[in-house]
Amino acid sequence: MPRPLEAKHGAKFQRLHDAGAVLHGVLEALRRLPDLGDPYEDERQALTAIATDIPAAGVRDAARARALRYIDAVRTADTALLSAQNLLNSFPLATPEGIALLRLAEALLRAPDAETQTWLIAEKLAHFRDTRIGLDGNFVTRVLATALKIAGHTAADAELQDAGGDRGSLRAWLAKSALRPLVIDGIRRFGDQFVFATNLPDAMARVKRRPDSRVTYSFDMLGEGARTRADADRSYTSYVDALESLKSALKQDSQDWTAHDGISVKLSAIHPRFETAQIERCERELYPRLVELAELARSANVNLTVDAEESERLVLHIAIFERLMRESSLGDWPGLGLAIQSYQPRALHTVSHLLQVSEELRRPIAVRLVKGAYWDAEIKRAQELGMSGFPVFTRKWATDISFLTVARRLLSHPAPVYPQFATHNALTVASILEFAREFSSQSDGRRYEFQRLHGMGDPLYDALLADQPDVRVRVYAPVGEFRDLLAYLVRRLLENGANTSFVHQITDSSVPSELLVRDVHEQARSYLASDAPPSALPTGRQLFVERRNSRGIDLQYAPSLLTMAETVTRSAQVAATSLISGHIGGSWRVDVRNPARLGDIVGSVVESTSHDAGRAVEAASASMQGWDALGVEARAAIVNRIADTWEAAHDELAALIVREAGRTMLDAHLEVREAIDFCRYYAALGGAQMKVEPLPGPAGESNELRLAGRGVFVCISPWNFPLAIFGGQIAAALVAGNSVVAKPAEQTPLIAFRAVQLMFDAGVPRDVLQLVLGRGDTVGKSLTSDPRVAGVAFTGSTATARAINRALAARDSPIGVLIAETGGQNAMIVDSSALPEQVTDAVVSSAFRCLRERV
Ligand code: FAD
Ligand code: 2OP
Repeated sequence: MPRPLEAKHGAKFQRLHDAGAVLHGVLEALRRLPDLGDPYEDERQALTAIATDIPAAGVRDAARARALRYIDAVRTADTALLSAQNLLNSFPLATPEGIALLRLAEALLRAPDAETQTWLIAEKLAHFRDTRIGLDGNFVTRVLATALKIAGHTAADAELQDAGGDRGSLRAWLAKSALRPLVIDGIRRFGDQFVFATNLPDAMARVKRRPDSRVTYSFDMLGEGARTRADADRSYTSYVDALESLKSALKQDSQDWTAHDGISVKLSAIHPRFETAQIERCERELYPRLVELAELARSANVNLTVDAEESERLVLHIAIFERLMRESSLGDWPGLGLAIQSYQPRALHTVSHLLQVSEELRRPIAVRLVKGAYWDAEIKRAQELGMSGFPVFTRKWATDISFLTVARRLLSHPAPVYPQFATHNALTVASILEFAREFSSQSDGRRYEFQRLHGMGDPLYDALLADQPDVRVRVYAPVGEFRDLLAYLVRRLLENGANTSFVHQITDSSVPSELLVRDVHEQARSYLASDAPPSALPTGRQLFVERRNSRGIDLQYAPSLLTMAETVTRSAQVAATSLISGHIGGSWRVDVRNPARLGDIVGSVVESTSHDAGRAVEAASASMQGWDALGVEARAAIVNRIADTWEAAHDELAALIVREAGRTMLDAHLEVREAIDFCRYYAALGGAQMKVEPLPGPAGESNELRLAGRGVFVCISPWNFPLAIFGGQIAAALVAGNSVVAKPAEQTPLIAFRAVQLMFDAGVPRDVLQLVLGRGDTVGKSLTSDPRVAGVAFTGSTATARAINRALAARDSPIGVLIAETGGQNAMIVDSSALPEQVTDAVVSSAFRCLRERV
């Protein structure tokens, strides 16, 4: 017999029920992931562990001497004057001009209509109006800077004349000016520098003209970060086509796959949900695609490398690769490879893990060692998440040491591994050559290759090829249209523009060559001997000066996601009642159900009546004076303690939000963080704004300005942010010296109940905060028409805000304050220069980003 609810909700109920089984499968899959360590491990500890294999002084000296020779060769080579590198040297990314260039490069060519392109150019050129930079660069940049300055001036003048709003002058100016096609052409060239070919036939034709038989290519079919299945299908097809073209081109070639061109695959290109929480789908849908590509690569006898992407994908990336290593259809084909990023402190551990698996399976692999291309994004994400560390090193020399240590491990390891060292740094290249010599007897003269990106490192590799007859070099060759290039292009521009980057420094004549070959092991030694902090940058926890940021959890890190999912599954039922001093009241107890799984009873609630609401106001009125008299410092200290108490109870609160409000785990976590931040923010703001100010009185009398609370505040909050808005309203009112009657949404009484209990634990006096659970048309109405209420803080619909406004006005009492945040729906204006992925990410993905409990 189906239970009544099942009968009532029919198919929906069944779907929700099935989704429970899916969740179980996901958790099982997460438990099977390899343990590669904590991504946010303290940087000092990570360095201590990896800086143990220090090359002998003689090896380091020889590497530096060799690197200086290569640097000399690079610095005296003829290079293109109008390269991206030169431009970025002239207009550094830290300046408004550099940022304007980056934005133009990122957005201009995807703006589909001429008019939007025009406005974009005019807006960005205005940054060059008063430029002083660029004018002391080489001849070409000086000319360019002068042209941009003049154009910027006229664009800004035309904009000024258009202050009235019709934009006629600007339009007329741009229509006349030859600038638009010139700028578009310039930006296209910017991109062209990094694209090998726009389509496969052109790429195949181009490799036939290879300059040196020791040079091979690895095609990257542009198109990462698929957002839809159609995107992923398109990328997958282009990889299949590329492999088939390689296969037919190589029919007559040697058996040595290392002498063949190959392919580089980004997993995010061939599946739209390459992310931890979607592990099951990745196993079911992404993995078979990768196997097909690998089988094709095997039959073509070419190298297939799985590119490394964001650090949050590392463990899934390794798990998928490990499974591929065991795939019987691939036998012991040695061309299977993956990229490892040395800027991740987990790099050495990850490589050791892979080498161990390779040894156990007796399966050779290729490992492309890179330093990593997503550094800026990694730093920003970790800060945004409120983490107390970073998944990447924050010192450039640490990334270098990590690279060198992993390189030594690869070169000296007994099991068959083919190392591929991807770098444009002369000292790194020189160090590898010296290490290879050092280990040549130990590992039977291990074969390896260097790799560089198309459009970068040309003069260095010319010098290397001239110097080393046996060296092999593979060029990473992106193939595709401009529309698929953007993410890749931005990474290249950031890499070329970063002032820590070797390619940036070597073209800057003010940087002495000696500085480019500084001994990184010496830098590590002095850091480890010092008491410098673990991270060189402010962590997510340290972002704000006036307050501590809330603690974040990275739910892409499987153990954190598992902990949260298990807390949700195991959380106990809550029996909520109103919390009114000296009064019980209420009506009858009813169940509260999980809106995403109606059979799940989250707890129960006893709703209050209008009479109870009156008793709550009475108690709050009686306590207000005493609370206000405590002073803002004491009140702020209590509100800060609420934040700490909620932070300690994070898992319980987040689990309750998931179950009672039906939010995703990520949104629930972010909501708890927001609630904590509100408390600390209002505590800091109140402390600053309500400080007692001395006022000079007449004839030397001393006087003080004291701001006081208004009285009883009623806080009415909505169901969609059942903790953040609820808690934020209360925290603000309490810090300001008011006593509070809180009425949460009737859909989410349990979370409010637990939050208030924890506020009492934190030291809020029980009579200062009254919790009234109940309906808007009963207790809500009675609270907002009570003459003893000094103000209402309300978030919800405009219609209800109007009703509250009228109720307050109709009272026969002092005028009440209404702070209303209404509407709840924001308009989003998207113009044709926007990146559609970003638009959809903002709007849609928050609902699907991370595990919902059951759907
Ligand atoms: P260097 O200038 O010596 O080093 C730059 C590195 O230092 C960067 O990783 C940068 O993030 C890091 N760095 C800069 N400042 C700091 C700091 N303050 N603290 C810590 N680190 C810092 N990248 C990927 O992510 N995945 C790939 O699959 C991948 N494939 C590649 C394939 C090839 C053939 C090549 C050549 C590169 C590939 N890259 C990949 C890009 C690569 O990561 C960058 O080109 C590389 O980091 C540049 O290193 P470098 O030795 O040339 O330069
Ligand atoms: C990137 O896409 C080259 O894989 C590296 O930035």
